[in-house]
Amino acid sequence: MSNLALVTGASSGIGLELARCHAARGGDLVLCARRRDALEAVKAELQAAHGITAHVFAADLAEAVGAEALYRAVRDAGLTIDILINCAGFGGYGLHVERDLAAEQAMVDLNIRALMALTHEFGRDMAARGSGRILNVGSTAGFLPGPNQAVYFATKAFVASFSQAVDHELRPKGVTVTVLAPSYVETGFAKAADLEGTQMVKAGGADAADVAKCGYDAMMAGRLVVVNKPLMGFVLARVVPLLPRRMVLKMSARSQSK
Ligand SMILES: NC(=O)c1ccc[n+]([C@@H]2O[C@H](COP(=O)([O-])OP(=O)(O)OC[C@H]3O[C@@H](n4cnc5c(N)ncnc54)[C@H](OP(=O)(O)O)[C@@H]3O)[C@@H](O)[C@H]2O)c1
Repeated sequence: MSNLALVTGASSGIGLELARCHAARGGDLVLCARRRDALEAVKAELQAAHGITAHVFAADLAEAVGAEALYRAVRDAGLTIDILINCAGFGGYGLHVERDLAAEQAMVDLNIRALMALTHEFGRDMAARGSGRILNVGSTAGFLPGPNQAVYFATKAFVASFSQAVDHELRPKGVTVTVLAPSYVETGFAKAADLEGTQMVKAGGADAADVAKCGYDAMMAGRLVVVNKPLMGFVLARVVPLLPRRMVLKMSARSQSK
């Protein structure tokens, strides 16, 4: 049986570990990110280690038609995607009005628009076939507003809301959508987002391989939302919504401050 997973953000961090999870279970891969060299190295590693077949599609998914072009390229290559893993994403530290607007918009383009477009295109094909799994990588940031990372937190709130609604729409058609909402993870994310020195980063983060396994297993089990730290997930989902908003904003701002 075909078992082909497309992983965005497969060149590093959590996406790379998700690709490793799938390959270790004998699954074939479509690897996507901007850095072709890094993807070719991942392909070589996973083909040698697990005897699977991996395809590299280098693409900038923050570009206007990046996601749609990726979908067409995969389809034109005759590949049928059984599992879609939307992991590519980035954050950015600073007051919203002082940050570069183009960078904020690129964040929306990648974290929201590309994820939505790929879910739309591949989700439609999965529904027509009557089976498929989608894993959208959100964040614990999706549970609350995030001063000093206002746009990033808002993009992850979109991922959480959108993914759960689409799961409800597609589940009767044999397709599940799972949100992986990790807490801080030790990857290149913090450096790229200029978050080094924040309280959150100084407190230390989870291991990318552990987080990927948590998300992969939840996706295979058809779970709706999974947080890698269950107690934190409970507090964010059940306790934080009951707290005064100003208190939540202060707590969130503190963890994102240097
Ligand atoms: N690390 C954390 O603390 C944390 C916590 C919660 C959620 N997350 C989420 O986890 C996901 C993965 O992040 P990570 O921690 O693994 O960070 P990472 O190591 O920086 O990985 C980001 C991935 O996204 C790809 N990417 C970035 N911009 C892209 C673009 N324009 N087009 C296509 N691919 C692009 C990168 O590859 P290229 O550079 O080769 O394009 C890379 O593979 C993100 O959605 C992030 O928001 C991270």
